[in-house]
Amino acid sequence: MKGIILAGGTGTRLLPLTAVTSKQLLPVYDRPMIFYPLNTLIQAGIKDILIIVAPDHSGHFLNLLGSMFQKFGVNISFMVQKQPRGLAEAYVLAEDFIDGEATTLILGDNIFENDFSEAIQTFQGGGRIFAKEVSDPERFGVVELGTDREVLSIEEKPEQPKSRLAIVGIYIFDAAVVEAAKGLTPSARGELEITDLQKHYLDQGKLDVRTVEGAWFDTGTYESLFEASAYAREHRFSERFHPMVNDALGEFNAEFKKIVSLKK
Ligand code: TTP
Repeated sequence: MKGIILAGGTGTRLLPLTAVTSKQLLPVYDRPMIFYPLNTLIQAGIKDILIIVAPDHSGHFLNLLGSMFQKFGVNISFMVQKQPRGLAEAYVLAEDFIDGEATTLILGDNIFENDFSEAIQTFQGGGRIFAKEVSDPERFGVVELGTDREVLSIEEKPEQPKSRLAIVGIYIFDAAVVEAAKGLTPSARGELEITDLQKHYLDQGKLDVRTVEGAWFDTGTYESLFEASAYAREHRFSERFHPMVNDALGEFNAEFKKIVSLKK
């Protein structure tokens, strides 16, 4: 299983916070946002991770994460998405990285309390998505389930949602996703839509849905970013991170301080 973190985009809803840095490098309480999706993947045992970034702030991601996990056996590589052409474009860009294996893709601005290890480790093929009940489903991709939890429909930001189940920003697909993504046509808003990929797997009867426990934040707005920070602080998220991630961060901070003191 390979991992992809989608950390490009423009972050226009968070301006001016995102004018000179990337949304996924903004703080969520005591660490940059990207550490949360990174932790989700590492917690599930994924050791090969591609981070897709926008051109403007790509150097910052490299400075922060370029060698942080090297000695911990986690390989992190980077790719630049020149324009935000949609979430599904990740699979086209990452064809060589995916290299015939299954992939878990997580959005760089999604923060989960849920542990996805079991869902990732038991994945056999096809597609697996995750949903959570929300009060404002019309803001998200919405999935409708039947009596046996089979998927009946998937709709992107519907005006009249058929359920309250929002599709959250973590997706598992087998290697066929690359060809499926290449076959997509851009939507009315000019993007390759992840919902179209999900529908492609649904049409083939190869899509299953799991529900997500615990808190979930899509930190794209001032309010949700603030709430995520408050929740992470109150619920001591950092103490629940995978020990390897905390060790890597601790060593990074110590080395950073050493370099600063040598410069003085
Ligand atoms: P969004 O929040 O939908 O888009 P955005 O980050 O550009 O923000 P805004 O709408 O405020 O301008 O993106 C969800 C996540 O996916 C986020 O981590 C950015 C990432 N993303 C990409 O990496 N490439 C893309 O083409 C798009 C659309 C998003």
